[in-house]
Amino acid sequence: MKKIVAWKSLPEDVLAYLQQHADVVQADPARPDAFVAALREADGGIGASVRITPAMLEGATRLKALSTISVGFDQFDVADLTRRGIVLAHTPDVLTESTADTVFSLILASARRVVELAEWVKAGHWQRSIGPAQFGVDVQGKTLGIVGLGRIGGAVARRAALGFNMRVLYTNRSANPEAEAAYGARRVELPELLASADFVCLQVPLTAQTRHLIGARELASMKKSAILINASRGAIVDEAALIEALGNGTIHGAGLDVFEQEPLAADSPLLKMANVVALPHIGSATHETRHAMARNAAENLVAALAGTLTTNIVNRDVLQR
Ligand code: DGY
Repeated sequence: MKKIVAWKSLPEDVLAYLQQHADVVQADPARPDAFVAALREADGGIGASVRITPAMLEGATRLKALSTISVGFDQFDVADLTRRGIVLAHTPDVLTESTADTVFSLILASARRVVELAEWVKAGHWQRSIGPAQFGVDVQGKTLGIVGLGRIGGAVARRAALGFNMRVLYTNRSANPEAEAAYGARRVELPELLASADFVCLQVPLTAQTRHLIGARELASMKKSAILINASRGAIVDEAALIEALGNGTIHGAGLDVFEQEPLAADSPLLKMANVVALPHIGSATHETRHAMARNAAENLVAALAGTLTTNIVNRDVLQR
């Protein structure tokens, strides 16, 4: 029987499914020695939200596949896994729509000041009808700039164009003719997007090329009225520069689901800013989607260990070895 190490608790039915194919050991990465020892015994691994370093894999010579319960795979050194002949699988499709919902809720909440004003009501400040001091800005009819028009970016573009009559601009390594035809999306260079968009929405994966893609210079090139939305990875934005830009009025506001350090420190200046909506990385966090992701990751792992996985592979080149 193959051995699988799990570093995230799994829904009962998903665990039962894995147990039909392998012995499953639950290991806690907060106990590094035991975790590394479990990896050394394992043929496969499944989990999320924990950095798996090359050092942790030293001596894990049986390991053939790792399966992350996420679309993002920045917790792994992909080149190192490929060198070791370890397949890395992820869950790109099942979370697209719920993550796009999170992005859109950040757009609406930031523009209409939903969180700030709900707290204002709870604090007992609503004593007469509201006036301009409580007004927000429109979302419908505005320009949305999507940096990275992949699956989630495409689902955000659909909501924007068809639901909110927004003009959609996007940057991407390659053109997305479907989004252009269906949503009127127009591909532009980043400087044009930053200068024209009312909402700048970041949807790129975190890589060496995208780390701090948005820094002081880029923030300064945005409209003063613009709102930055980030539900991809915190490190795409230089957070210190963002704090500065939000504090001195370089941009109007931000809706953030992700941060350079997570959980966000309780003393982060972002938490004191009325023009910031901060969420605890809830992108895909619905009961239905998180269950579908766990199931998808388990199926990916079982198939990878059987040598039959053909989709959801991050390091496809490992198969050529
Ligand atoms: C993902 O799937 O990458 C989400 O951000 C959760 O980590």
